[in-house]
Amino acid sequence: MLDKIKETAEYLSQYATQCEVGIILGSGLNNFVDNLKIEHSIPYSEIPHFPQSTVKGHKGMLIFGEISNKKVICMQGRFHYYEGYTMQEVTFPIRVMKALGVHTLIVTNASGGVNPNYNVGDIMLIKDHINLMPNPLIGRNDETLGVRFPSMTNIYNPTLRQYAKEIAEKNNIKLQEGVYVGTTGPSFETPAEYKFFRTIGGDTVGMSTVPEVIVASHSQMQVFGMSVISNVFREEVQEECTHEEVLEGVAKAGDKMNVIVQELISRIS
Ligand code: HPA
Repeated sequence: MLDKIKETAEYLSQYATQCEVGIILGSGLNNFVDNLKIEHSIPYSEIPHFPQSTVKGHKGMLIFGEISNKKVICMQGRFHYYEGYTMQEVTFPIRVMKALGVHTLIVTNASGGVNPNYNVGDIMLIKDHINLMPNPLIGRNDETLGVRFPSMTNIYNPTLRQYAKEIAEKNNIKLQEGVYVGTTGPSFETPAEYKFFRTIGGDTVGMSTVPEVIVASHSQMQVFGMSVISNVFREEVQEECTHEEVLEGVAKAGDKMNVIVQELISRIS
């Protein structure tokens, strides 16, 4: 894996070397890049060893640019385990970002609320997660990438979460804070599963993010995560969840999330 990471990072270093912040844009959140001073946009298909996005709403472009005086790499579209990729492939871009200098990873996603106080279009700061997917660190550990048994305490950086709360308050944005449950998908949950995720301490459930965050913290990056609540499970209603509903729900919140991320980046040191 180390060779592939090096080769990809070397290829991408023609576009930028001293990157600081990596951003992964989840389903329907692509328009964040409108706020960037874009320097280069590279389709994943041109990048050696990069997987391809196969999901509607995920574009498949790596964007190099600048925002709030910081060099950023932005993934428009991510890789999911349910697409058939291995966990090493899903998290490969995080390793490459680290090799290009990224010290802070911002992850965004759409997720389904299981906390009954949540509404469609809310945004939630991720304060912790519950991993119900295969762990991306399974396999021989390369000590040059990180330790064998990394701690998972406080991986969602408390200082960055505090900044986000301040930014949200200043901009009159309602912000939830909770626990993201990561599942493989691709089927949405049965009512019994949604109830189970609430019971075990989840506030929201989704099919991404957790592997990326585990690898980022294995790589000693600081992590900030935010989730748009695209649908909410309510026992008394039990509507069917569809991908279209998810994209509609996200459209309601994308702008709020962009405001927070943009200002947060200016405060990252
Ligand atoms: N379940 C799992 N993943 C999701 C959901 C959901 O309800 N909504 C958006 N992503």
